[in-house]
This record gives sequence, C-alpha cells and structure tokens, in this order.
Amino acid sequence: MLILGIETSCDETAITILNSKRKIYIDKIFSQTKLHKSFGGIVPKIASKNHLNILPYLTNNILKELNMNIKKISLITVTVKPGLKRCLLIGLIHAKTIASLINKKYISVDHLEGHILSANINNVGIKYPYLVLLISGGHCEIIFAIEIEKYRIVSYTVDDSIGESFDKIAKILNLGYPGGDIIENYAKYCSGKKIKIKKNSRNFSFSGVKTYFVQKINKLNNFNRKDIFQICAAFQKTITNIINYKIIKSLILFNSKYRISNHIIISGGVASNNYIKRVLYMNIKAIGYKLYFPKKRLCTDNAVMISYTGITKFYRRVYTNVNLNL
Ligand code: KG4
Ligand code: ZN
Repeated sequence: MLILGIETSCDETAITILNSKRKIYIDKIFSQTKLHKSFGGIVPKIASKNHLNILPYLTNNILKELNMNIKKISLITVTVKPGLKRCLLIGLIHAKTIASLINKKYISVDHLEGHILSANINNVGIKYPYLVLLISGGHCEIIFAIEIEKYRIVSYTVDDSIGESFDKIAKILNLGYPGGDIIENYAKYCSGKKIKIKKNSRNFSFSGVKTYFVQKINKLNNFNRKDIFQICAAFQKTITNIINYKIIKSLILFNSKYRISNHIIISGGVASNNYIKRVLYMNIKAIGYKLYFPKKRLCTDNAVMISYTGITKFYRRVYTNVNLNL
C-alpha cells in the first residue's frame, strides 16, 4: 500500500510517498522562503499562488522520479488545518481531485497532530500517554497526548509564538528570515546571559522577552558583530529557560494524572534548535524522564509527518474528514 502525503498549510509545498510500513519512498519540499524573505515574513497571497503553481508540478515530478503511475497510490493524506486558508484549500482540492480520479480515499490531517506524531518516525518505543512541547512558527503549546486523536492542551501562548519571536529578533538585527537557524548560529559564538522573566503563569508569553530585546537593540544604535553574538545567545538562553521551566511545571500535573509515563516529546520548527535540544535533554534526563525529538528535517514543515499521521489514523480507524471552514 502506498500513501501520498500533501502539505501546503503555510510556505512549504511538500509532497511525499510512504508505504504502509512507514518507509519513505520519496520526500520533496519546495521551500518558498526566498520568495518571502524580502517581506520579513510570510505573505499569504504569494504563498497560495506558489502552491498553486508548484504542487501539480511537484506531484508529477515525484511520480516520474519513481517511475510510478498515480493509480498505484492507495490513500491520499492532506493537511486541512490549521494554516492559511487559501493555501490549505489548494492542498485539499489537489488531494480530492487525485482521490476521485483514481477512486481512492483521502484522509484529512491536522498539521499539529502531524508535528506531535513526527517524533515517532525516527524513534521507536514512544508510549502513550506522553507530554509534548510543540514549538513552531505559529504555536507554543504543552499538550498531554493521551491517545491518537486524544489531546489535552495544558499551556499555550497568550501572545506571540516562539518561532515568531526568533524571526522578529533576527529581523531587527537585520540578519534575515526565517530567524531561528540564524540566531542559533550566531549564538554559538558567545555563552550569553539569560534575562530574568516572570514565569509563574501556566501559559507562555513571549511579548515581554521580545520587547526587552527589541529595546536593547534599539538602544545600541550601531551594533557590531560582538553585540549580535551576545544578543542572540542571551535571547536563545532566555527562551530555553522559559520552556524548560514550563515543562517541569507541567510535569507536576502530568504526574498526578499519568504516573506510569516518563516520555516527553519536543517537536515543531523550533525543535530543530540543537542548543534547546541539548539543554532540555540533559535537564529532563536528570529528573528521570526521556526526551524524544524528530530528526531535523522532520521538525520544520514537511509532508512525511502528514502521511505518517494519516496512515496511523487509517489503521486505527480513527479519522473523520473535516470540512474546511471557509
Ligand atoms: O514548524 P514550522 O516549520 O512551521 C510552523 O508550523 O509554524 O516552524 C517554523 C519556525 C520559524 O519561526 C523558524 O524561525 C523556526 O521554526 N526555526 C527555528 C530553528 N529552525 C527553524 N527556531 C529556532 N532555532 C532553529 N534552529
Ligand atoms: Zn508546522
């Protein structure tokens, strides 16, 4: 059985083919980053226009590369939420058209569930229930994953998302877009000093941290490379300290409900940050828990996590195809 996966929720046009054993036959991502770079963020109209141009071309290309007829596909999986409406719609129309042409089923997938399950693709033995820290461009949440399709969000961000904050700091330092990888690279040159932030609430808030660093940068007037190294390292350290604290806090609630489990997952674009992974891994190990994360390519948006999630739901017979709320 071969499964086609389609992801177009934001600025990545991604397509993949997996088999029923979750073996990846092909995995292609066309990143639109360059097209949005000069705007310092994603422009929805540009994103949807490019999905429309690229998706049919990419689909054709993977089939050619594998020398495969589309009729060999048995199931189509596609992201339907959350994301940019027009972008999602293009992916969904593409999926439904292929499904009806070859007379096969399609399964709609929640992008966030895709990120949550993505850690299972390169790790074996992750057991429910587990605690998830989902850190991406649009989200920052702590979730108790109880079973497939059964999630309890226990913390979320009340203002900016975490990836957005990385992007913003990189933007005002004139370092480019997206900011996460860039900040991580500059932060390597300096040990950095974390700033003190009030963290009492269960939810996340990044606007205070962001404003603190924006003001600091503005005060510098002309910043040199050393200033950039210091700001990036301090920002990264402060963010890491916040998420580390929130995980430890949530574990109290998690333990009171699910005493038997000691598995924690971090996933989403920001989880590709090696500094964050290293610090969390050590701290979590020290208190007797085990941290899992997806491999780097599967942290940021991709179609493998979508087809993986779709096929898992298909086999467990837990899927309902949601309608897009247009
Ligand atoms: O998961 P993702 O690809 O898209 C969403 O679903 O939102 O995440 C993209 C975000 C961007 O904000 C980007 O700056 C951030 O992930 N990111 C990173 C790193 N690589 C990507 N943030 C911190 N460190 C990184 N190495
Ligand atoms: Zn994502």
